[in-house]
Amino acid sequence: MKVLAINGSFRKQGNTDIINEKVLEGARSRGAETASVFVDDLHINSCQGCLECRQDGICRQEDGLMEIVKKIEEADAIVVGSPIYGNYMTGQLKILLDRLMGVISRITYVPGGGIKSITRLDPKKRNIGCILTAGAPTPECADDALKLLRRMLGSLTNGGFMEEIIAVGINAKGAILFPKEEWEQVAKKYGVPDTAAYAEKAMDRDREVLVRAFDLGCRLVG
Ligand SMILES: Cc1cc2nc3c(=O)[nH]c(=O)nc-3n(C[C@H](O)[C@H](O)[C@H](O)COP(=O)(O)O)c2cc1C
Repeated sequence: MKVLAINGSFRKQGNTDIINEKVLEGARSRGAETASVFVDDLHINSCQGCLECRQDGICRQEDGLMEIVKKIEEADAIVVGSPIYGNYMTGQLKILLDRLMGVISRITYVPGGGIKSITRLDPKKRNIGCILTAGAPTPECADDALKLLRRMLGSLTNGGFMEEIIAVGINAKGAILFPKEEWEQVAKKYGVPDTAAYAEKAMDRDREVLVRAFDLGCRLVG
């Protein structure tokens, strides 16, 4: 069982990376083979809008795209992570999704109206985890990013499940693992009166995210 994590963040050991890794740790605990890629390392150009991929599933640009398409096709489960940037996913991940659109799926019209996206890849069942990280205190900032992830990646599931974890309130690099003293510094900066209570709450919240991430990894494989 192969599990692939795709990260739209630019920060190695950043919050998305740490949570993605926790998901992979869960998957490995169930015997999966795991791999992780940062979209920024793939050297993928922007979509040029020719729409040719919609006809035959082939992109005319010669860059790192097909390398990741191959990994996606081979994967039995996928984790897609991104920080929220401007209430959306990062530009880097959006570029990848634009490029994947006609390559991994094709649109067919449903009799009576509507359209349906059908995979061009091996139609095996794949469970998918979406990890979104945000500085905002509440998860609504991830709504729009999730909408696209669900629409785009749905064609890869073939009966598998898709589940998300939205980790909020984490801004600094690695904040998801901050100890009490660092959270107290954050609280001080924000002018929070009870810095200890703020720190405890943040740590409880983050621990819960990491527990959920590990559990998701186990279930992606299960
Ligand atoms: C350019 C930029 C834009 C951001 N926009 C938002 C935003 O709209 N909402 C939000 O909650 N957090 C925003 N953030 C905060 C990141 O989502 C947060 O720092 C996240 O934990 C970064 O994840 P990483 O460590 O994996 O890179 C932004 C950060 C940057 C650098």
